[in-house]
Amino acid sequence: MFLITGASSGIGAATARAAAEQGYRVVLAARSADRLSELATELGGADSALAVRCDVTEWDDQQAMVRTALERFGQLDVVFANAGFGATRGFLEESVEHWRSMVLTNVYGAALTIRATLPALKEARGHLLLTSSVAGRRALPGSLYSATKFAVTAMGESARLELNDSGAGDANRAGDGRHAVLLQAPDGRPRSG
Ligand SMILES: NC(=O)c1ccc[n+]([C@@H]2O[C@H](COP(=O)([O-])OP(=O)(O)OC[C@H]3O[C@@H](n4cnc5c(N)ncnc54)[C@H](OP(=O)(O)O)[C@@H]3O)[C@@H](O)[C@H]2O)c1
Repeated sequence: MFLITGASSGIGAATARAAAEQGYRVVLAARSADRLSELATELGGADSALAVRCDVTEWDDQQAMVRTALERFGQLDVVFANAGFGATRGFLEESVEHWRSMVLTNVYGAALTIRATLPALKEARGHLLLTSSVAGRRALPGSLYSATKFAVTAMGESARLELNDSGAGDANRAGDGRHAVLLQAPDGRPRSG
C-alpha cells in the first residue's frame, strides 16, 4: 500500500496515478474529499484506492488516516509526505495567517505524517518519501517557503539517519520536488501491498 498526503492535485495525484499503474494499492489523503473520491474512483475504486480526508496539521486526522488505511489494506509499504504549499516571496508579502498555515503544513504536517506512519512503516520495512524543493537546498530571496523546505530536507536526512538499518527499509526524499520517486521491490518488480 502506498499512502500519499497532498494527493488531491499536482505531484501527489500524479504520483498516485503512477503508483496505481505500477500495481500499488493507494491511500489518497488531503482536505478536499470530493477530489480525492473522484481520483479513487478513477484508480479503480474500493479494492485499489482509498480516499481519506486528512488535514496534515491535525494529529487526530493523521492517526485516523493511518488506522483507516491499515484496516482497509493491511500493510504500509510506502509513505509519501507531500502535502504543502508556497507563498509569494517577500517578508512583507502574504498574511501572517498564510505564513502560519504554510509553516504548519509544510513542516509540522510532514513531521506528524512521519510520526503517525512510523510504527506500521517499520513493521513493513517500508519506504518514506518527502517532497522538499530546490528551494529547500538553496535559499531564495524573501522566501519563508524556502525555509520550510530546508526544514523538510533536514527532516528527510534526520529520518534517514534514524531509520536506515533500524526497522524501516529506506528513508528517501524526492529531492527537488519536481519529481517523485517511485520505489520498487528489490527484484525490480513493483510491490503490491
Ligand atoms: N509544483 C512545484 O513546482 C513544486 C516544486 C517544489 C516543491 N513542490 C512541493 O510539492 C508538493 C506538492 O505540491 P504541488 O506542486 O503538487 O501543488 P498542489 O497541486 O497545490 O498540491 C498540494 C497538495 O497539498 C494538499 N494540502 C495542502 N495543505 C494541506 C493540509 N493542511 N492537509 C492536507 N493536505 C494539504 C492539497 O490538498 P487540499 O487542498 O485538498 O488539502 C494538495 O493536494 C508541496 O509540498 C510543494 O511545496 C512543488
